Amino acid sequence: DWNSGNVIAEQIERIREQVGDARVISALSGGVDSAVSTALVHKAIGDQLTAVFVDHGLLRKGEREQVEKDYVESTGVRLITVDAADTFLGHLEGVTDPEEKRKIIGREFIRAFEKVQLDLVAEAKASGGAPVKFLVQGTLYPDVVESGGGAGTANIKSHHNVGGLPDDLDFELIEPLRALFKDEVRAIGRELGIPEAIVGRQPFPGPGLGIRIIGEVTADRLEILREADAIAREELTKADLDQEIWQCPVVLLADVRSVGVQGDGRTYGHPIVLRPVSSEDAMTADWTRLPYDVLSKISNRITNGVRDVNRVVLDVTSKPPGTIEWE
Ligand code: XMP
Repeated sequence: DWNSGNVIAEQIERIREQVGDARVISALSGGVDSAVSTALVHKAIGDQLTAVFVDHGLLRKGEREQVEKDYVESTGVRLITVDAADTFLGHLEGVTDPEEKRKIIGREFIRAFEKVQLDLVAEAKASGGAPVKFLVQGTLYPDVVESGGGAGTANIKSHHNVGGLPDDLDFELIEPLRALFKDEVRAIGRELGIPEAIVGRQPFPGPGLGIRIIGEVTADRLEILREADAIAREELTKADLDQEIWQCPVVLLADVRSVGVQGDGRTYGHPIVLRPVSSEDAMTADWTRLPYDVLSKISNRITNGVRDVNRVVLDVTSKPPGTIEWE
């Protein structure tokens, strides 16, 4: 008889025992797993924990505020945000290859995190306080099974998430979600009072909007995609479709232009792709048959409200052969 209250109490005790009076660092991504594992560790050891959130500039609209404001208010976690948008954009300049983008974003994420980590270690030393010894990771049971190998799936994309953190500083790991499945993690998050917008969040890739701009990633293009993505999300939520879809990537075809007409002028703008999918585990997926009126509403709002976009298209490909993300 599984009960989130029991799991929380058990984990709190284990974490306290493991940590003692040492200090702990955790990386928040905005996603469910890191949000819940961090909140759980905070519940156990309070301000011995410092959470780090790297804003790589590839986040969705409102995402940083959600972490800095809603998450911090509901959990009381001590948070450091790293403003790394310019650094990331600088390194992504001129890069169009998907794998190269992924590698750069993963590498820069680790660099940014490492810098804070070293600062915190130095700070603890200078103040004569307890040393920083532990790192929180939001590893779930399916991650444990997957990395145990044996499944034999080909490496199609180099995945980046907050699981891939530096290990050269010789930290011990705290992984309070190691025995849990996603729905259990969500239940624990709710029990801990984390806002539904975070706990119920659909999957979002670590490299963020960087792999949803087909072509070079620039600040200008990110702004366009961020607006289009926000509109699509808002309309899907309004139509009560969040449970029905697994996730809905919104993709900017930045290297494609097509002719349109708006007002009485000719336009030459970019297409936005909607990629709503239904899935159980993201290994396979089907495109979601969204109601026409919802699609129409999203299309109208995007073409009327987002600059440089004059066309919205729907991706009707299952996985396989298409992956969920376009890159
Ligand atoms: P694909 O595109 O391979 O995506 O069908 C499968 C699922 O994984 C998500 N995804 C990622 N998640 N880091 C992540 O944490 C990544 O680099 C990454 N790439 C893809 C994708 O959104 C989908 O849910």
